[in-house]
Amino acid sequence: MGEPDRVSATAPFPLPRSARLAVFASGRGSNLTSLLDAFPPHATGQPRDALAHVALVISNVPNAPALDRAAEAGIARRAIPWTRDEGSRDAFEGDVQAALDEHGIDLICLAGFMRILSPDFTQRWQGRILNIHPSLLPRHPGLHAQRQALDAGDVTTGCTVHYVDAGVDTGAIVLRRSVPIHDGDDETGLAARILVEEHVAYPEAVRRVLHGRTVPLKEDTP
Ligand code: GRF
Repeated sequence: MGEPDRVSATAPFPLPRSARLAVFASGRGSNLTSLLDAFPPHATGQPRDALAHVALVISNVPNAPALDRAAEAGIARRAIPWTRDEGSRDAFEGDVQAALDEHGIDLICLAGFMRILSPDFTQRWQGRILNIHPSLLPRHPGLHAQRQALDAGDVTTGCTVHYVDAGVDTGAIVLRRSVPIHDGDDETGLAARILVEEHVAYPEAVRRVLHGRTVPLKEDTP
């Protein structure tokens, strides 16, 4: 008779050392910059936040400005292609997992990463993978969240940092920050106003997660 399976109820955080962060980004990387500022890599010479440091940047877009930001910060970066071809997602996730293992990553932060990861991948990283979204989830998941808020006639929107699960922007919420919508706002202006709050929200959410003050259960959604 074998031992019954043990299911650990232990949350992955806090860690007894500085957590190693990987940031996935497909584009300009302004949220990556806010995370680099808050959790500088060893190479920068900036005072290190004892809680965490960005150790790796991954992009599915080879010329993404986010990769340039990683280069400027002197940290490891990987461009890993993800094409429309069948099997490309599996290949991408295999290469990504190898890079995450190589760099001993503790927490993944999706920051403008414009692809949907597989349920296998998100399950493997459950409780250790976050995303930022430019609306007050659960309102307006998916693409063009700012336009969705304008079209809905909302007077308030904002941003949300949440755990990633198998759905699109459906994971448990870590924190939200609100932004007013003014008469005459357009998508661009509203996106810029939300972005200011995103840059505050993401580092704060990472701190909450790494201090073990939140766990990825729907019941913990504020
Ligand atoms: C942000 O608005 C983020 O909420 C969304 O994509 C955008 C990425 O911007 N998921 P940046 O690349 O971090 O500047």
